[in-house]
Amino acid sequence: MLLVVLSGALALLAQTANGASPATRVALFDSVYGAEATYNLSMWRASLFSRLEQFISDNPALHLHHEVRAEEWHKRFEPFQPFITCPPDQRLERVGNEHDGGKWLCGLDKMKAPCNVISVGSFNDYGFEQAVLQNTKCNITTLDCTVSKPRVQDPARHKFFKKCMSSEATVTERKDFMSYRDLVEGELRLPSTDAPLLKIDIEGYEFPVMSEWTPDTPNLPSQIAVEIHVASWKRQALSKTHPIWNRHRLGVLDLGLFFAHLAELGYGIVSKEDNEYCGNCSEFTLFRVEAAVPSRATASRISQLRRHRNRRLRRARRHA
Ligand SMILES: *[C@@H]1O[C@H](CO)[C@@H](O)[C@H](O)[C@H]1NC(C)=O
Ligand SMILES: *[C@@H]1O[C@H](CO)[C@@H](O)[C@H](O)[C@H]1NC(C)=O
Ligand SMILES: *[C@@H]1O[C@H](CO)[C@@H](O)[C@H](O)[C@H]1NC(C)=O
Repeated sequence: MLLVVLSGALALLAQTANGASPATRVALFDSVYGAEATYNLSMWRASLFSRLEQFISDNPALHLHHEVRAEEWHKRFEPFQPFITCPPDQRLERVGNEHDGGKWLCGLDKMKAPCNVISVGSFNDYGFEQAVLQNTKCNITTLDCTVSKPRVQDPARHKFFKKCMSSEATVTERKDFMSYRDLVEGELRLPSTDAPLLKIDIEGYEFPVMSEWTPDTPNLPSQIAVEIHVASWKRQALSKTHPIWNRHRLGVLDLGLFFAHLAELGYGIVSKEDNEYCGNCSEFTLFRVEAAVPSRATASRISQLRRHRNRRLRRARRHA
């Protein structure tokens, strides 16, 4: 679906050489739902700046990354409420454990094989993996460098890598880490049309992993269930490979940039749940309703337009 629409948009891009400006964002659902969800997404982007500034005026203690009273930690997630729904035929449902570890997902049971689910961070708890294996025919891959005796649930469909996930920059320094690209391209060799479902709970490393995604990143997920951490463990060494850029705390503005970055890639929030077992975390589900046209296509469109302009200028000079 994703790539069908995307390649349609690229064809459109090629056809509009002499006229209408081409779309640089593409709705992934060609339906009332798709139009409404992408509308919500652009309204959310357009209002984020003023909403966050207002929130900070009302909550000055959350401005940067100050320590706050324990019961106030979750408050910095407050500006990031769900603003799109799941598609009408894909119900939002809780999958996996009752407590910590359960995730809200859009239409897991609607995933059609061949399909892939990626589960990063396991703590050797496979409630989520079991639910995926029971409810879908998808393959599932688990990553966790902290687990020494992994329990593979179904050798035919479940793979385990003793690796943690971080940015491509970090991976060159840490052999126990793998980047998203390494996994989907290098290890799983997913077809370029596959948009896996990603579940990720990795103690702050969600920031370096997702911050380096661009429209050109292969196999961007169709949806992401992520536990977001605004404070890192004190014992984590502060270094270049530290998950939150050499800091121990993230503030509401950092979260604003993070969600704006994901909105730029086409993801809207469908679910938010403050984790009662973790004062510094909240669970979010992001669903992709829009794609930006990859930079390769954009660059070739720019050179095409430049050739047209130069031809026009030469013609004008000849007639002058
Ligand atoms: C868009 O946002 C409105 C509220 O502003 C909500 O009622 C509606 O369900 C949303 N639609 C989609 C498709 O996300
Ligand atoms: C996943 O799916 C493919 C078929 O689509 C299969 O060949 C492969 O061996 C499966 N299992 C794993 C663990 O990747
Ligand atoms: C937030 O995380 C910090 C660092 O790990 C920890 O010291 C603090 O107790 C946590 N706060 C809550 C409310 O869990």
